[in-house]
Amino acid sequence: MNELLPEIEAAQDLQAVVDLLHDRVAHYSWVGVYLVEGDDLVLGPWNGPEATEHVRIPVGQGVCGAAAASGKTEVVDDVNADPRYLACFASTRSEIVVPISREGRVVGEIDIDSDQPAAFGDADREFLERVAESIAQLSVSSTELNRERRRRLGRRRERAS
Ligand code: SME
Repeated sequence: MNELLPEIEAAQDLQAVVDLLHDRVAHYSWVGVYLVEGDDLVLGPWNGPEATEHVRIPVGQGVCGAAAASGKTEVVDDVNADPRYLACFASTRSEIVVPISREGRVVGEIDIDSDQPAAFGDADREFLERVAESIAQLSVSSTELNRERRRRLGRRRERAS
């Protein structure tokens, strides 16, 4: 998996990162990125065989909400044995959720479901924590870009009025 890091670090947007993870790692059956919006996690780019109905999850609910609340990676070897688990797909057996943090704040998370039981080990955790750092960099630059775009639009509006 670590051999994917250079490509992931070079990716220009979140969808490209999600697609790489889903397409190149066999036991990553469904891959999604949730972004923090107020007290909720809102589903952003995803890739997998099916859409999930859980497009908005309150922080604190489900495995996703637990990882967002604690800022720590959650690994669930058997989703059916975890009372926090919010079911998305009948085929899912295990799950990993890795927070994406910026300046000590959780801004989002990577959520991966596997159809294999106990699919996620230390190698996945270490790899995905590095991917999360890379995504945090990516979102810093896109936030800066948006800010710059808004500034330019504002100036244009001022000139027009
Ligand atoms: N299983 C997650 C919900 C998201 S779906 O897996 C895509 C949870 O328990 O929070």
